Amino acid sequence: MERPAWAPQGIDISVPSVSRIYDYYLGGSHNFEVDREAARKAMEFLPGLPKIMQANRAFMRRAVRYAVDEGLTQFLDIGSGIPTFGNVHEVAQQASPGARVAYVDHDPVAVAHSRAVLDGNPDTTVVAADLRKPQDILRSPEIGELLDLERPVALLLVAVLHFIEDVDDPYGAVAELSEALAPGSLLVVTHASFEGVPVPTGQAGGAVDVYRNEVRNPLIMRSREQITRFFQGFEVVEPGIVPMPVWRPQDPTEDEDPFTFAGYVGVGRKA
Ligand SMILES: C[S@@+](CC[C@H](N)C(=O)[O-])C[C@H]1O[C@@H](n2cnc3c(N)ncnc32)[C@H](O)[C@@H]1O
Repeated sequence: MERPAWAPQGIDISVPSVSRIYDYYLGGSHNFEVDREAARKAMEFLPGLPKIMQANRAFMRRAVRYAVDEGLTQFLDIGSGIPTFGNVHEVAQQASPGARVAYVDHDPVAVAHSRAVLDGNPDTTVVAADLRKPQDILRSPEIGELLDLERPVALLLVAVLHFIEDVDDPYGAVAELSEALAPGSLLVVTHASFEGVPVPTGQAGGAVDVYRNEVRNPLIMRSREQITRFFQGFEVVEPGIVPMPVWRPQDPTEDEDPFTFAGYVGVGRKA
């Protein structure tokens, strides 16, 4: 298979990737047939996956606007993905010109495309790092230059914690990052769960198997109680840890696709 110009040297394009599958669900063009095949296979079990991803992005944008309304102008978005329509820096800088946004991802395509999109935007940066190694993120010179950790930061962990297995201590990673944040900082989380999925759990498990066996990056479904534990040390803001459409909706939620009620989101404020 030929490697297109946007794909960095050295990436394995014979194995599907989480970020490129997500890009495909959102209608993007930074994905390969191997990604589309895995995405379509997962959709045989969970046909509403694209709706879930769209609702995730819509929540993320509402949460960024909420952070700006709360006076925050610094964003640390870990597991930021391949840029697409309505990225964090676009929403934040439209609401608050000069807002600073640091993107972090461990996927080379996400990092390369972020660099291309952010070229010429001095209030942004992108760092290749792994959420499982929070000190690499906190000690990154680029992030140190852009963000003032003495002042509140909105830490975005949007659709990424469910790719961190318990053995890699996702709770410890969030705690380490939180510790470095100033009081008044916000933690924004979205997380997959079997709760709220409008098909039997056994069927939804088929999509989880695709991530484990074909993407080789397991999708860890957690309960509301387990997701709430990520907010230790934070005061969860209203309306709490809820399904995506229920979090401060802009429009009435009656017409929402049932799949968008899968999983949980929340925003917490550091005391
Ligand atoms: C489903 S996408 C979410 C993108 C974006 N946050 C959003 O919600 O629109 C998950 C992203 O997390 C990244 N990711 C997964 N595990 C990661 C890790 N351990 N460290 C950094 N990024 C990770 C993937 O590469 C992918 O780009």
